[in-house]
Amino acid sequence: MWKMLKINNILLFIVLVSFFSCCTVKATVSYDGRSFLINGQRKILISGSIHYPRSTPQMWPDLIQKAKDGGLDVIQTYVFWNVHEPSPGKYNFEGRGDIVKFIKLVKAAGLYVHLRIGPYICAEWNLGGFPVWLKYVPGIEFRTDNEPFKVAMQGFVTKIVNLMKSENLFEPQGGPIIMSQIENEYGPVEWEIGAPGKAYTKWTADMAVAQNTGVPWVMCKQEDAPDPIVDSCNGFYCEGFIPNKPYKPKMFTEVWTGWYTQYGGPAPHRPAEDLAFAVARFIHNNGSFFNYYMYHGGTNFGRTASGLFVTTTYDYDAPIDEYGLLNEPKWGHLRDLHKAINQCEPALVSTYPTVIWYGKNQEAHVFKSESGDCAAFLSNYDPTYSAKVTFQNVQYDLPPWSISILPDCKTVVYNTAKVSAPSSQVKMTPVGDQLSWQSYIDETPSADDSDALEMNGLWEQINVTRDSSDYLWYLTDVNIGSDEGFLKSGQDPLLTVVSAGHALHVFINGQPSGIVYGELDNPKITYSSNVKLRAGINKISLLSVAVGLANVGVHFETWNTGVLGPITLQGLNERTRDLTKQKWTYKVGLKGESLSLNTVSGSASVEWAEGSLLAQKQPLTWYKTSFSTPEGNDPVAIDMGSMGKGQIWVNGENIGRHWPGYIAKGSCGDCSYGGTFTEKKCQRDCGQPSQRWYHIPRSWLNPSQNYLVVFEEWGGDATGITLVRRTR
Ligand SMILES: *[C@@H]1O[C@H](CO)[C@@H](O)[C@H](O)[C@H]1NC(C)=O
Ligand SMILES: *[C@@H]1O[C@H](CO)[C@@H](O)[C@H](O)[C@H]1NC(C)=O
Repeated sequence: MWKMLKINNILLFIVLVSFFSCCTVKATVSYDGRSFLINGQRKILISGSIHYPRSTPQMWPDLIQKAKDGGLDVIQTYVFWNVHEPSPGKYNFEGRGDIVKFIKLVKAAGLYVHLRIGPYICAEWNLGGFPVWLKYVPGIEFRTDNEPFKVAMQGFVTKIVNLMKSENLFEPQGGPIIMSQIENEYGPVEWEIGAPGKAYTKWTADMAVAQNTGVPWVMCKQEDAPDPIVDSCNGFYCEGFIPNKPYKPKMFTEVWTGWYTQYGGPAPHRPAEDLAFAVARFIHNNGSFFNYYMYHGGTNFGRTASGLFVTTTYDYDAPIDEYGLLNEPKWGHLRDLHKAINQCEPALVSTYPTVIWYGKNQEAHVFKSESGDCAAFLSNYDPTYSAKVTFQNVQYDLPPWSISILPDCKTVVYNTAKVSAPSSQVKMTPVGDQLSWQSYIDETPSADDSDALEMNGLWEQINVTRDSSDYLWYLTDVNIGSDEGFLKSGQDPLLTVVSAGHALHVFINGQPSGIVYGELDNPKITYSSNVKLRAGINKISLLSVAVGLANVGVHFETWNTGVLGPITLQGLNERTRDLTKQKWTYKVGLKGESLSLNTVSGSASVEWAEGSLLAQKQPLTWYKTSFSTPEGNDPVAIDMGSMGKGQIWVNGENIGRHWPGYIAKGSCGDCSYGGTFTEKKCQRDCGQPSQRWYHIPRSWLNPSQNYLVVFEEWGGDATGITLVRRTR
């Protein structure tokens, strides 16, 4: 096949790499302007993202098998630095962090791996994948020409590469990893920060290449990716993307299959027809590698979701849903597309297409090899009208916004707008008996709490918590003289608290006095309300709540969280008193967290109420119960529709943050697959909680006596919580 190529730029990238003194192995993955080659074989590579920490190791084999059945050749994953190095030099590769096991399972299924080491990964993952301690390395600035950052980054990249080498996981060693990625979508940042960004890109590329992995490196959204690194495109469509050198293959590293959900936003949906259209369009325009982001989105367990307000579900409207079930017709429609592309592969990889123009919106892309292979893609880009085109004396009907695939230049085996896969409807069926709950109301501490930190002025939240908890108490005393006019007039003074985010509870003398929280596009909040104060000392207790740290933006590490002020009290004899610079006392986390109420042993340390004494609609309340595992194999979820905001644990495992009290705003309604898609185009569930159901992986359950704990911040009705079975 090699000789038949009409490609000018021949194989540029054959490297001999020696890994260990024992064995010298020839690099077997290479590329040129048409495609990647594996062991000399040209490939159209079909890839999909599955992120190992977003499901459980028990789910991995089934997810990988479903990806294989769906026609994938490659599984793409990020590497999650903050999963693997929670504190400096202390590594974790266990459980959902067992990346070696995940890659070996992909290999066992006969698929390849694209390993996106980053270590910046964005990914709607807390702090973009960086460990929070990295923020506090002296002198550090993220993702720029900064020595402390480069030292840390190189350290982690080397750690991961060495781990992969020691397990023989790179392709030349007989492993499944055929390519890696360094950095992630850095181009836009470089463009904004200029010279230091350019220097950093160059350093990044050199550092990566010097790792000698034996397989190519990719940089996505990086127009100036230095040779031999391949630059690539991410988006809803990438047909117009052109690699920065003619001898690099055209890669689509992220075909967005849908979009992520945020608390306060609706659920995005991308029609299967439009997704298939985007892929076919990319392939007929010289594309040779594409990856679905996400193929299985999964779950942001625990506190791994990023700001702003990314939900616990990371379903993404991906072909495999959050729970591991097939999202039909999307999964099946893409499987059929992959079959059609595979049938065309011999023609596709042998040549570039000749294009026949039929008018503004219709084209034929014809791949005709010297050995007689012929494949054609007939396209109609009109978003609303169907069209007829004549190709090789035969007339073809093309629905709007669609591409027909003819692997022999005669027979239409697939049209992107004609879905033959059956649809599936999600069903959430309540299971089990009514749960029997007990409650414990957490304490509202005050400034005289003995083990708390005392400081003058307001401190940034993460600086104090180091993200060990979502919660930080800001506590102070306000002395009110008995001669204050408002005590007689009854005109309560106005308390104003300005916070950098993300949510805030105000308590005055132990009594709840309001809750405020940020908007989707703005985490900053202001509490402003008249408050009841008495003569003498008044206790002001502010509970500031972080809901995931930002994962994207130029220097996102400098974004603040928590109550930074000003804080004022208006309507006193002195008019306005500024509380910003006075003495504040800090307490990290809730009492229930320090007592580990999420565990059976920890829960014994407090008295729980039940029956008629069960707390109802009370803020800062812990609820516990136990339940038997629902029969069968259907995935299990918990319906939190009656609750407000907080966190859920099952048998000590953190299921994630719940926030059904945040109702989805936006525009929803019917949408046509035709026309350019954006994440706001086909939204669903406006007016409903952004997320009502939360996945409980079956592997976290015992046959009976499962210990379920809910911490509820706002106040909810725990008796409304039910377990459900998910089917499609
Ligand atoms: C495909 O590649 C050929 C050969 O390099 C080039 O002439 C053509 O413009 C490319 N088409 C697209 C859409 O990039
Ligand atoms: C962060 O904490 C340090 C002490 O650990 C303190 O000196 C500094 O002022 C704090 N910064 C902010 C922004 O709160």
